[in-house]
Amino acid sequence: MPYPCDYPGKKIKKPLPLTKTSMLMSQSSNIPLPLPGSPKDGDRLNAAHPNAETLHLLSHRRSTVVKDMREPGPSEEEVGKLLTLAARVPDHGKIGPWRFLVFRDSARARFGERLAKIFTQKEPAADETRIDFERERFLRAPLVIGVISSPVPHPKAPHWEQIMSAGAVCQNLLIAANAMGYAAQWLTEWYGFDDDVAKILGLSESEKVAGFIYIGSTDCQPLERRRPSLTTRVQFWTDPKSD
Ligand SMILES: Cc1cc2nc3c(=O)[nH]c(=O)nc-3n(C[C@H](O)[C@H](O)[C@H](O)COP(=O)(O)O)c2cc1C
Repeated sequence: MPYPCDYPGKKIKKPLPLTKTSMLMSQSSNIPLPLPGSPKDGDRLNAAHPNAETLHLLSHRRSTVVKDMREPGPSEEEVGKLLTLAARVPDHGKIGPWRFLVFRDSARARFGERLAKIFTQKEPAADETRIDFERERFLRAPLVIGVISSPVPHPKAPHWEQIMSAGAVCQNLLIAANAMGYAAQWLTEWYGFDDDVAKILGLSESEKVAGFIYIGSTDCQPLERRRPSLTTRVQFWTDPKSD
């Protein structure tokens, strides 16, 4: 039986009632879904995809905090499909100004060793518990996908647009992971901005971490959180100049 995720500051005493739909749609299942194929260059595609389940996912999508993730993670085939789906974002000029760093299996622990070393150099007073936490960061989920923003000089695609395309990749990953039955969270944390970590990740001067997308199974149900109000954020533009 799924339990409510324990968010700091929220005291939940009993599990939330689960509707049949939310049980089916919100939890990871070990039954692999059939993965969709990919179109070939030049195939004619549908301009719209009316689909109630997609709308349900978008209106109920919620991150699961990484501490609530567990094995199993996506299979090798699912990882391949996740990357293919993630890469299917608008990119002005067809330049794909991003790339992926995939951390699975022992690569997660290996990265953790390097991270713990860097952390200890920066924080020599840190105690063992904290250093172990750094060492185990990528072991919190079975799969971590680093999305790297790799903008290039381009005559038509401004730098800002190329960065936004990397953000769209991250969001696609969250959606695709959820639709495959996995929990996901987009994190950057301190190591997403650290120059020494950037070196061990092999980032060039012009590259930045757009996000580390943690993906895994979960037993818990995230709670809905307050959403930004649209009241102050939406205006239907009218021309202030009436001539
Ligand atoms: C670019 C980016 C970086 C983020 N980095 C962190 C982070 O380092 N730590 C954190 O607790 N949440 C971080 N978040 C927020 C979570 O990923 C998550 O979106 C949020 O906690 C819950 O919102 P949701 O359920 O609508 O996804 C980040 C979000 C974005 C967009």
